Amino acid sequence: MTSPIDIQAARDVLLANDRGGYTVPTSRLYPFQWNWDSAFVAMGWATFDEERAWRELERLIEGQWDDGMVPHIVFHAPSDDYFPGPDVWGTHHEPPTSGISQPPVFAIALRVVLEGATDPGAAARARPLYQAALASHRWWANARDPEGTGLVAILHPWESGMDNSPAWDEAFARVPPEPTTEIRRRDTAHVGAAMRPHDDDYRRFIYLVDLYSALGWDPAAMWEKAPFKVADVAINAILQRAEQDLLHLAGLFGSDADRQEIAARIAKRAGALAGLWNAERAVFQPRDLITGALVDVATSAGFLPLYAGVPSLEQAQRMAAEIKRWRGKVAHGVPSTSPFDPRFEPKRYWRGPVWGVVNSMIAEGLAAYGLSDGADAIRSDTRALIAAQGFAEYFDPTTGEGLGGGSFSWTAAIALLLSR
Ligand code: GLC
Repeated sequence: MTSPIDIQAARDVLLANDRGGYTVPTSRLYPFQWNWDSAFVAMGWATFDEERAWRELERLIEGQWDDGMVPHIVFHAPSDDYFPGPDVWGTHHEPPTSGISQPPVFAIALRVVLEGATDPGAAARARPLYQAALASHRWWANARDPEGTGLVAILHPWESGMDNSPAWDEAFARVPPEPTTEIRRRDTAHVGAAMRPHDDDYRRFIYLVDLYSALGWDPAAMWEKAPFKVADVAINAILQRAEQDLLHLAGLFGSDADRQEIAARIAKRAGALAGLWNAERAVFQPRDLITGALVDVATSAGFLPLYAGVPSLEQAQRMAAEIKRWRGKVAHGVPSTSPFDPRFEPKRYWRGPVWGVVNSMIAEGLAAYGLSDGADAIRSDTRALIAAQGFAEYFDPTTGEGLGGGSFSWTAAIALLLSR
């Protein structure tokens, strides 16, 4: 029997990371507002401070570009603790932002915050945020799927939110490790290098930033010139789920035309996502759009189509069995990379460790298929890891050790959501 999560301690993490309406992921390593972190964090705030939950979403949208893109970082206030800062991104927005996006959890969070709201002003608050979410989904479709295949692509591994996943290894190896910007890594000053990406990968990350910055962050030029273009499973699954929540919100705030547009995207993406299933491995896999091939990798992202209701029941059952097999090999689920894969590294960032946010989405997906044993096992693993180790950025699946940054906002948010 594990000890329960300390709810007050979880709230205290959010309160301590609050910088005035937005929450930093953790104080030194990530000193700005991050896109998908904020969406989870807004749902966490909503469990005890409705006003603060709205502010989180509103402040993220202060960074939204005119074309609808919601950036992965909004640099509300300067900090020397992080590289690459606004000078490297070279975008022209106020407040300064990065030039790429992140998994669009925003509309999902908006629906959760609205449905939990007791304030009579909630609908008025939600309406402009609905418009922002709609614009962002249109941006994904236009900028990241200009050929209309139904699947959006990431043009930078950071856009996936799973920055260092082995899913990018092959495609990323084609990116030259030759940035023009001088690298001044700050991350390894805050946490051990063994948990962080290798230097050559960092040079490739910055090469892409330099390239797109030189193209003025123009989506059409980026699409044409990108040496890295992957139809990621997580982005597409999360977007598909977010579209379903957006469609619901469109019933409250949108027009008939909005609803038709969203429904059409959902129908098209459902078919396209189905084509990413690898029956032999019982996971969905990304497609490398430069080679056209599926990337033969098994990561926790590969289970996220469950969260969008994409798989058939039979596929969902196979995934539940596969997750169980992974959990059987390591002590705690769900590892971010299959522990049967030679690239599995239990401590290195997205190559093995367990993330609470990913677990929460997989568990919700399994539960929606009626696979409650699998969902309960993942939720109780997540609770036990947090109760034993605190609000770490992520956890070693073999030992349960909390790793990366400490006092981490989205881990605290997931703890609050799991304690409801
Ligand atoms: C890392 C993660 C990314 C997250 C960010 C802030 O870059 O890979 O998903 O948004 O940290 O927590």
